[in-house]
Amino acid sequence: MSPGVPPTVEWRDGSVRIVDQRRLPFELVMLDLPDVTAVADAIRDMAVRGAPAIGCTAAFGVALAARAARDLPLQEAMHLVGSACAALKATRPTAVNLFHAVDAAFEAASGASSASDAADRILAAAQRMLAEDVDANRAIGEAGAALLPESCSVLTHCNAGALATAGYGTALGILRAAHVHGKLRMVYADETRPRLQGMQLTAWELMQDGLPVTVIPDGAAAALMAAGRVHAVVVGADRIASNGDAANKIGTYAVAIAAHHHGIPFYVAAPTTTIDWSIGEGAHIPIEERATSEVTEVRGMRIAPEGVRVWNPAFDVTPAALISAIVTERGVIKSPSASRMQAIRDSQP
Ligand code: MRU
Repeated sequence: MSPGVPPTVEWRDGSVRIVDQRRLPFELVMLDLPDVTAVADAIRDMAVRGAPAIGCTAAFGVALAARAARDLPLQEAMHLVGSACAALKATRPTAVNLFHAVDAAFEAASGASSASDAADRILAAAQRMLAEDVDANRAIGEAGAALLPESCSVLTHCNAGALATAGYGTALGILRAAHVHGKLRMVYADETRPRLQGMQLTAWELMQDGLPVTVIPDGAAAALMAAGRVHAVVVGADRIASNGDAANKIGTYAVAIAAHHHGIPFYVAAPTTTIDWSIGEGAHIPIEERATSEVTEVRGMRIAPEGVRVWNPAFDVTPAALISAIVTERGVIKSPSASRMQAIRDSQP
């Protein structure tokens, strides 16, 4: 998959094993989550993060809840599993993959003959989601790499890589495929304040796999473009509205504006599970706001005046008009619009 990066999430002997992303790049530590409460805590605290990885982990969380209830009468068990689903959905609001995955895991139990049968079906569904996500990323990788010119330097924001998915990555999947095809000269990784996913995760995982990467402060992106050193921008997404507006890590919108100003193509890479067909436009996407300490502290040390006001949205929305194409496993949506998005929805999976 990604030779240097262990599986971000997997089922291991009746518990969920994740890479603890809070510890990277300093140490590679695996975390075993024994129950659904531990899974919800890991998602909320961002031990696991990235839209598809959150979805897959949550599906295994539903499987853990079902397994714990497998000796109960079916109805009682499903009532408990339903409560577990609600707890998982309350962890992070923006990435729609979480909601899709939890609902799909719960629905996998419909028609079960017993609580034990329900638990088996839910686990099988979670395993399927994991495998399908990797397949989707590989398809996205190939389709996206075909859009890039020879010898290109690409800017990315946050981490939409193996660590953010079941493996291989969406935006970084495109860069991995471009590297294999000999097209990639350099990846520029925005450091991605305040949680530093670009500097700590993207840089780490690309270095693990031997891809060329240079970290830049977020504020340097426009200057790099002005210097002619960026040929394309490739980012992931947490939720895409049905008109193509895309929510991604805070700062993505500013990168898109800068790319538009400099005439640089701006690509969003995401599986179709990241599209929320119930939302007509990006303004309706719920944006998570996180603790102010993420901005005012670095590794527990205060770096801002005591008592200062802080606004810390975790995501922003890039309007479809600034997006050159959305790259999905079902195909590339150029200059996305509601009708072009719908055409992908209607296409055969
Ligand atoms: O807050 P995070 O780290 O979960 O945010 C992650 C991102 O914004 C990613 O770009 C997005 O989830 C796509 S991951 C393939």
